[in-house]
Amino acid sequence: MNAEILTPESKPVSVEAQLARLKSDSLKTLALIKQVHEVLRKQGGELQNQHAQLDRLSAEGMFSNYYFHCPIDYEKETYPPDLGTPRYVEGEDLPLPPPDYRPGYAPNDDQLYLKWGKSDHRQICDIVKKHHAGYDGLTVLDFGCSSGRVLRHFFAEHRAHGWKPIGIDIQAKLIEWTRRYFPKELTVMCGSAHPHLPFEDNSIDVIYGISVFTHTKYLWDTWLMEFKRVLKPGGLCMQSVQCEAAWEFYHAHRNEKWVADGHPAAMLREPHMTRDYLYYGDPSVSQVFYRKDVILDFWGRYMEVVDFLPPPEFSYQNWIVLKK
Ligand SMILES: C[S@@+](CC[C@H](N)C(=O)[O-])C[C@H]1O[C@@H](n2cnc3c(N)ncnc32)[C@H](O)[C@@H]1O
Repeated sequence: MNAEILTPESKPVSVEAQLARLKSDSLKTLALIKQVHEVLRKQGGELQNQHAQLDRLSAEGMFSNYYFHCPIDYEKETYPPDLGTPRYVEGEDLPLPPPDYRPGYAPNDDQLYLKWGKSDHRQICDIVKKHHAGYDGLTVLDFGCSSGRVLRHFFAEHRAHGWKPIGIDIQAKLIEWTRRYFPKELTVMCGSAHPHLPFEDNSIDVIYGISVFTHTKYLWDTWLMEFKRVLKPGGLCMQSVQCEAAWEFYHAHRNEKWVADGHPAAMLREPHMTRDYLYYGDPSVSQVFYRKDVILDFWGRYMEVVDFLPPPEFSYQNWIVLKK
């Protein structure tokens, strides 16, 4: 072939040269396409890995714990769960949940379980007496009530002072247990990790949460705004939080497996909390720490901070008290 092709620069290029260039370009394009496919294939694999991980966490009931809601099970057909055998203790009006239904709180020691709950209950009553205008007929919300370790003790205030105790938790099984075994005067319901409460504006006098914001890594500020919405003017919100005392407690126990496995490297390394805050972990094992001056500043932007208390008996968590 002798034909010549004029290039844009008007330099004649032979057809053979042009075909050779086209062939070379196509090979380069093919190589490029192969590379792109390879990248996509790898990404697909990675996405599959991520999905597999999420599926595993969901199946273990961990992902939903602190993400959206933890249902009774993940089966297509859900039947009433086995709630175990309740424990009855002399002198105690309400039954105690069996060990599996007391996550993290004296599962095998009934007396300690009761003592611990009573101690937190007493602390809440003391704060209400100190900071709330009245003591009768209060509507009180236990945010993250679990199977009612503390809520159960407010049956006494219901009878003596007309209180209306309510408990909410994202773990459906625990709520199912309290619904089955507590009297209906203690209202319980399932909640969501999304910052929403099923209550009207200005309808609650006191909200307390024990060891909930210690794990609330996401949207804590929106939660505070939601508490503010449902609290009556003058209403109280008290939460246990992890500050310097908790940091130092964990640091002192850094060589124990349960601490080493579930806590941030900085906290294991540094004896004192110098950082403003630390939000650690994935949804299932998150731990949240604030320095005292920082939480007073951050939380004080949403409601007035009226108290900051040292850790009570059995605990290394401080309590912060806010007023609407
Ligand atoms: C460490 S446990 C403490 C349980 C209880 N407050 C006590 O002191 O016995 C934290 C609880 O908060 C619940 N929780 C976490 N996020 C929640 C949310 N957004 N709404 C309701 N409950 C929540 C968990 O399901 C869990 O039962």
